[in-house]
Amino acid sequence: MTSEFRELRLDGVGRRFSGKDALADLDLTIRAGEFIALLGPSGCGKSTALNCLAGLLPLTSGSIWQDEKRIDVLPPEKRGFGMVFQNYALFPHMSVRRNVAFGLQMRKLSKAEVARRTEEAIRLVQLEEHAAKLPGQLSGGQQQRVAIARAVVLEPSLVLMDEPLSNLDAKLRLEMRTEIRRLHQSLGLTTVYVTHDQEEALSLADRLVVLRAGRVQQVGTPEELHATPANWHVADFMGFRNMIEMTVARVSGDEVVLEGEGLRLVGTAMGSISTGATVVAAVRPEDVRVVEGEGDNRIPATVDVVEYQGRELAVEARTGTGSGRALHLRTDQRLAPEDRVSLAVEPQRLLVYPKEAGDPAPTELAEVTG
Ligand SMILES: Nc1ncnc2c1ncn2[C@@H]1O[C@H](COP(=O)(O)OP(=O)(O)O)[C@@H](O)[C@H]1O
Ligand SMILES: [Mg+2]
Repeated sequence: MTSEFRELRLDGVGRRFSGKDALADLDLTIRAGEFIALLGPSGCGKSTALNCLAGLLPLTSGSIWQDEKRIDVLPPEKRGFGMVFQNYALFPHMSVRRNVAFGLQMRKLSKAEVARRTEEAIRLVQLEEHAAKLPGQLSGGQQQRVAIARAVVLEPSLVLMDEPLSNLDAKLRLEMRTEIRRLHQSLGLTTVYVTHDQEEALSLADRLVVLRAGRVQQVGTPEELHATPANWHVADFMGFRNMIEMTVARVSGDEVVLEGEGLRLVGTAMGSISTGATVVAAVRPEDVRVVEGEGDNRIPATVDVVEYQGRELAVEARTGTGSGRALHLRTDQRLAPEDRVSLAVEPQRLLVYPKEAGDPAPTELAEVTG
C-alpha cells in the first residue's frame, strides 16, 4: 500500500471549548509510514487532537497540511482517513464479512474487487474462521479486529486509532498490540495512535508525542523519552515513580548535590538548575538498588510492602526507620516487611528537574493521575 503523501503537517493546531484550551499550539510533522503515538493522562487533549486531524472537530486555530495541500478545511470523508475507536461501533446485524465490505460497497467497486479486498482484510486480522458470524458472537478482541479490518480495507492514507485496546482484558491487549504493530509493518500504513498507556505507546510507536493539559511536552523516539524525559511531568509518565522534592546544595557541570528529607544525594541536571532552588529528583524503581555497607548516594530505609512479581519483588520502602517518605524499588532479593535496608542510586540515574512555579508537588500529581 503506498501513501498518497510524503508528510502531514500540523501547524499551530488549537481547539477551544467554551473559552478553554483543550489543545493549544500543536506543531507536528508526520512522515509517511510513521507510527506516531499521542500519549498523556485522561483529559490532556489526545482525542481532541485526533478528531481535529480526522475532521470531526473544526480547529479554533492553526492549519493542517498534506504536503502542499491544506486539508483542515475539508470534511472528514474528503480526507480519506480510517478511524478505529475504543467502542468498536460495528453494525450488530451484519456479519463480519459484511461489516468489512460495507465501506467498499459504498465506493461502488465491482463485486469481484469488493470480495477480493474484503477476504484479504479478514485474512490480515486472522478472522477467516469467523467471517460469517455476527459481532455479538465474537470476543472483544475479535470485534476490535473487525473494526481494524474495516478501517484498513479502504486503504486509507492515514489510520487514526483512539485507545482501541482499552476495553480489552490484559492478555488480549498484549496480543492485539502485537497485531497492530504487525499490520503496521506489513502494510506500511501511516498511523496516529492515541493512548494513556505509556508501555503501549513505547512498544508501538516510532515517535511519541507527550501531551499535558493540551500542550506538547516532548516529541521523541521511545528511546529518547525513556532515557531523557524533558521535564518531571514526562518523567512521571515514563515510569519514574520516585519523585523527591529536594533543595540544591551545589552544582558543578551536570552534577547536582541535593539535600532534603534527611538525605544528601548526587544527581544529574536535566535543565537549568541553580544553588538554593527547589527541584524534583526522579528515579525509576528498577534503578534503586539494595546494597550492603557504606557508600555514596545511600538511602537508609525500612521495607513496608512487598509484592511478589515472579522473578522480582516490587517493594515499597520508607526512608529512615520507617516513618519517612515512600520509595518504590524492584529487587530479586527476598525482602520482608520491617527489614532494614540500604538503598543506592547511580547519580546518572537520578534525574534532577527544575520545579516550575505553579507546579503541583509531585506527590499530589501522582495521586491525581495514578
Ligand atoms: N465536546 C466537548 N465539549 C467541551 N469540552 C470538551 C469536549 N471535548 C473535550 N472537551 C474537554 O477538552 C479536554 C481534552 O479532552 P480530550 O481531548 O477528550 O482528552 P483525552 O482524549 O486526552 O482524554 C478535556 O478537558 C475535556 O473535558
Ligand atoms: Mg480520549
